[in-house]
Amino acid sequence: MPLHRAAFRGSMGVGLGARYTRALLRHYVACDACLFLVSVPHRSGPVDGYVFGAPLRHLGEIDRRLAVPSAVGMATHPWLLARRAVLAEAWNRVRGHHAVDTTAPDPATTFALVGIGVDPTARGRGVGRALLAGFEQHVDPDAYAACELTVYEDNVAARALYESTGWRCVGPVPGARTLRYLRIPGACGQ
Ligand SMILES: CC(C)(COP(=O)(O)OP(=O)(O)OC[C@H]1O[C@@H](n2cnc3c(N)ncnc32)[C@H](O)[C@@H]1OP(=O)(O)O)[C@@H](O)C(=O)NCCC(=O)NCCS
Repeated sequence: MPLHRAAFRGSMGVGLGARYTRALLRHYVACDACLFLVSVPHRSGPVDGYVFGAPLRHLGEIDRRLAVPSAVGMATHPWLLARRAVLAEAWNRVRGHHAVDTTAPDPATTFALVGIGVDPTARGRGVGRALLAGFEQHVDPDAYAACELTVYEDNVAARALYESTGWRCVGPVPGARTLRYLRIPGACGQ
């Protein structure tokens, strides 16, 4: 939780409060179809980074499961809605992101990277790159034709990380201030 708050400071998810963050992380840790990997620099030390994702076809269901903590977060932090990016993201979640996005890849054969975060004090040392490589290694290339992620256009560090590790930007997501990136599973290191 503290790492998530530090890594995603200023994001909509953190803005929704502790209850939402707890529900989000618990879901990805517990869900069999999802991936949740952590980076632990020393054997008994604290986690300094993590990455999580899910089959693209599950994201609508996950948004629905998180609807109550999302609504409570919005109700208790209403000033979030004054931010245009948050408003656009909330609206997309209500409509169901990929249901209305005709540019999205096939949900049946795509695995989505939902979040990657590194403790601010551990950045710039290859933790993000290692987490991304681990993520790709855990996505079964026989089950999924592609990995996808979306990232805010102005997230310079994350975009540089993705582009330096072979993810390909395929364009903007309609109705959002985000770009979509794709990667072929099993192509790690190429
Ligand atoms: C994006 C993030 C995960 C990168 O983690 P990191 O451990 O610092 O990244 P790495 O040290 O592995 O860097 C790998 C490459 O990413 C790029 N990169 C990382 N940080 C960068 C920065 N601040 N500016 C420009 N490029 C950067 C570089 O190409 C770097 O390769 P290099 O070191 O050979 O130049 C981290 O900045 C973070 O947690 N950001 C906040 C959360 C977030 O925005 N997540 C993405 C959306 S879900």
